[in-house]
Amino acid sequence: MKSLKDCYTLNNGVCIPCIGFGTWQVPNGEVAVSAVKTALSIGYRHIDTAAVYGNEESVGLAIRESGIPREEIFVTSKLWNNAHGYKEAMDAFEQTMERLGLDYLDLYLIHWPNPIKYRNRWQEANAGTWKAMEELYKAERILSIGISNFRIHHIEELLKTAAVVPMVNQIRLCPGDTQDELVEYCRGHNILLEAYSPLGTGKIFDVPEMKALAEKYNKTIAQICIRWSLQMGFLPLPKSANPDRIKENSEVFDFELSQDDVKAIASLKGVCGYSSDPDKIPF
Ligand code: A2P
Repeated sequence: MKSLKDCYTLNNGVCIPCIGFGTWQVPNGEVAVSAVKTALSIGYRHIDTAAVYGNEESVGLAIRESGIPREEIFVTSKLWNNAHGYKEAMDAFEQTMERLGLDYLDLYLIHWPNPIKYRNRWQEANAGTWKAMEELYKAERILSIGISNFRIHHIEELLKTAAVVPMVNQIRLCPGDTQDELVEYCRGHNILLEAYSPLGTGKIFDVPEMKALAEKYNKTIAQICIRWSLQMGFLPLPKSANPDRIKENSEVFDFELSQDDVKAIASLKGVCGYSSDPDKIPF
């Protein structure tokens, strides 16, 4: 990867820009519009939002007003936990598209595999949701479909009825939280790993080993994390609402971590905490 515009290739041949701009906790309105416009002006071409982030309107507005041709921007959104099942998913997708003000979506993900609302029948709920997403995919309303926070048993269950293998699994991946078995399983099925919270939602900045590496490479801790994520073969989704940090997080193509340092960062067990158990989330 040499620039923000370089791509990973999904299992359906679609090109997905190698760093996505994350928008979790970026408030709808001027903050989100301005953050997404800044990201696009710096060269990000991949924006990641979700129905539950509450900022789809602003994300869509920034994309439409950016002056960049729609087909040059990769846009992801996610189906929230209250809308699993065939009909619910169809309706939720249309609402997302209305809020975004776009006529197609590049990637749509099931946000969580086992919401509390469907806990006693998550298998059936995911199968219905996936059927809706497959139809929207075939109709080219969505160009790629995927999952988020799915563990191996959720994927195995989904694949029992799926006609389309998910293109992406978006999970929490950061230094010391590398979900190795799940990563290996996804790779075995040609499912790209997207890394949310690549900076450990901010927890990484106090870790002494990361400070030492930042000095060694003369880069910032955030840049070390994002570069590490890329060298792990993940697609990082760093989030920032601050223009200087949005730019800083994109400047990761002028250095390379040694393989020993990549391994050392992976082995910083627990420094950023661990991902939530999707079968126990209280939402
Ligand atoms: P802010 O939006 O004020 O920049 P993650 O991507 O792992 O979820 O981490 C996001 C958190 O890290 C946010 O609190 C964000 O705050 C902060 N952050 C993002 N980029 C940087 C950076 N380059 N330096 C310091 N903090 C950053």
